[in-house]
Parts: sequence; C-alpha cells; structure tokens
Amino acid sequence: MLLPVTPENLVRAAEALRAGELVAFPTETVYGLGASALNVEAVASIFEAKGRPHFDPLIVHVADAGAASLYAQRFPPLAVALAEQFWPGPLTLVLPKRTRGGADVVIPDLVTAGLPTVALRVPAHPVALELLRLARVPVAAPSANRFGGVSPTTAQHVYEELGDQPAVILDAGPCTTGVESTVVSLVEPNKPTVLRLGGLPLEALSEAVGEISVARGVLDADEQNAQAQVGKLSPGMLDRHYAPRTPLHVIEAAGVWPPVEGARVGLLAFEPVSADVRERYAAVEVLSATGDLHEAAATLFAAMRRLDGANLTMIHAERVPDQGLGRAINDRLRRASTR
Ligand code: TXA
Ligand code: MG
Repeated sequence: MLLPVTPENLVRAAEALRAGELVAFPTETVYGLGASALNVEAVASIFEAKGRPHFDPLIVHVADAGAASLYAQRFPPLAVALAEQFWPGPLTLVLPKRTRGGADVVIPDLVTAGLPTVALRVPAHPVALELLRLARVPVAAPSANRFGGVSPTTAQHVYEELGDQPAVILDAGPCTTGVESTVVSLVEPNKPTVLRLGGLPLEALSEAVGEISVARGVLDADEQNAQAQVGKLSPGMLDRHYAPRTPLHVIEAAGVWPPVEGARVGLLAFEPVSADVRERYAAVEVLSATGDLHEAAATLFAAMRRLDGANLTMIHAERVPDQGLGRAINDRLRRASTR
C-alpha cells in the first residue's frame, strides 16, 4: 500500500518490519525493498517478490556506524574513516561478517548469499533514517524492482514493479541522487576496492583514501574474464542489469544514425538536442537541460522508464562525460545494453 510519510505511517512501517513484513522505503539513491535482516523468512520474501536469485547478496541498512560495526567481524581504521566522512550517504562498505555472538548480531547466510562478508550502508535520507531508528533492527534492502530491471526512483515506480507485495510503500517523492550506492570492499583492510560505481564518485573516494582500486570488470564490463572475476567478488554485478524491456544501444552522440525505416527509435540524451536531431526520433528524453551530471543521475531511471513505456523498437542512449557521477551513469547504460 502506498502511504504518505507521516509520523503514524513511519511507526506503522517500522512495526511491519519488526513483524517480518516487507516495507519499501525511500533512500537518497533509489527506493529499497526492506525486511528485517535478522528474520530469514522475511528476507526470503524479498527474494521471492523480486524474483532475485539467491546467489545475489543484499545490503544491510543501519542508522549509524555504531550499529554497522555490530554486524562486522572487524571495522578497520579505513572503514571508520570512510564512515565518518561519507555516512550517511551513497556508500556501501563490504566487510568481514560477524559469525559469532548470537542471533541478534549474526546476519543470516541468506542475506549475504553465503559469503563470509556483509555489505553495510547508512542511507542519507531522513525518512530512511527515522524508519531504521524506529524499527530497531538492521534492514536488508535491495532496490525495489523486479530482478534485472530498472531501479525505482519514485514510490509509483515501486508500485508498478511490485504492486501490493510490500505491506507498506512509503512515498517521499523522487530520490535526489538517482543511482545506487557505490560499493567498496574493505575485506583487505588497507586495500579499498570499488565493486560497483555509484552515487559516491570515485574522485571523492580517492581524495579521501589516496589510491583506490577498481575491481576488474567494473570499468570494462563487457570483457568476459573480467565479468567472471567481478562476479565472484560482487555477484549482483554480473551480466545484464538495470535494463528496460526495449533494446537499448549506447551511442557516442545523437543524430549520426540515419532514420531506420519502420522503426520507432527513442533517444536518451544527456543535454538538449537540436531540432534536426529531435526530428529523427519518435521520442526524446533529455537528462539535464544544463549538462549537469548530478541532475542527469537523478533523472536517468525515470527517463529510461518513460522511454520503455513509449512503444519503441529501440532506445539510443548517449554516453555522458566519464567523470564524477557520469561514470555510474555510463556503467548503468552499458549494463542496460548487455544482451
Ligand atoms: O543504493 C543502493 O545501494 C540501494 C539502496 C536501496 O540502498 N540498494 C541496492 O541494492 O542497490 P541491490 O541489492 O540492488 O544491489 C546491491 C549490490 C549488488 O551488486 C550485490 O551483489 C552487492 O551489492 N553486494 C551485496 N552484498 C555484498 C557482499 N557481501 N559482497 C559483495 N557484494 C555485495
Ligand atoms: Mg538492484
């Protein structure tokens, strides 16, 4: 059920989480489909609702770094530094999982897909933080879409994807960041490694920690070996993902393609296009009127969904500048286009 954010509805959502029900909630990145991470049956219903394979582990959301440290075996100095600088925020830290100490601190294997690690995040959204505080349980939450599809950035998107499967969908309007969190592994405590590009730009990370490595296959996703490699590190990064139903092709610049006879081609453009280019396409979505990468990230998934609903033969998606949030945008475009 779609509910507006009120104090009563927040309490109701928190109680639903404590009772083992599913709650979809806003974060600054995308909407999440949450369940108590300590309740295996509730977590199982996340996988069921999404049609998500069990080898793909979930991120555990908590209200602060203190809570995060409960579920990790170690919280090394670099994790403390990153948490201090970027939490709450679009950063997920992968750390060795606590395996002893009782059912209230050991995150079940179903959440982590049997890995010896756990992914932890403190989202920067007042509604998410209030919900986590009220629920008093860690909340496992993937993006609230069907597996492989486009992540939801509004509560309406969640409803279109999952209907009434969540007991509550908290509606707090569109997400401001618009792409998922950046996932960083600290399994080697002094060698931070990026497993997924996302809402926290690489530049900000390397400014904070000096050199940061990027797992093979994250930057060059179409290379077979590299894909297998990153698949082992971060199972959810495999293959086609974030994809609309309409075939999507990444192009370097709009307008260089001759019109295709009988085809309805849509354009996902970074910046405004000329009338001449617009004419060639059956539908055009512009991500940012001013060529701003933050705005483009925030509007990306909603624009993809609109084009997907426009009865098109194919979508041309323009690559954006490969810097800041542009890297995450290009990553999502490339994965959306993998057949
Ligand atoms: O912004 C986000 O991260 C959103 C919001 C809701 O927080 N969540 C999200 O979750 O995008 P999901 O499940 O769609 O993506 C989680 C990613 C997957 O690629 C998964 O493989 C990876 O995180 N992941 C989770 N646990 C992991 C672990 N223990 N080791 C390596 N990768 C992990
Ligand atoms: Mg997802």
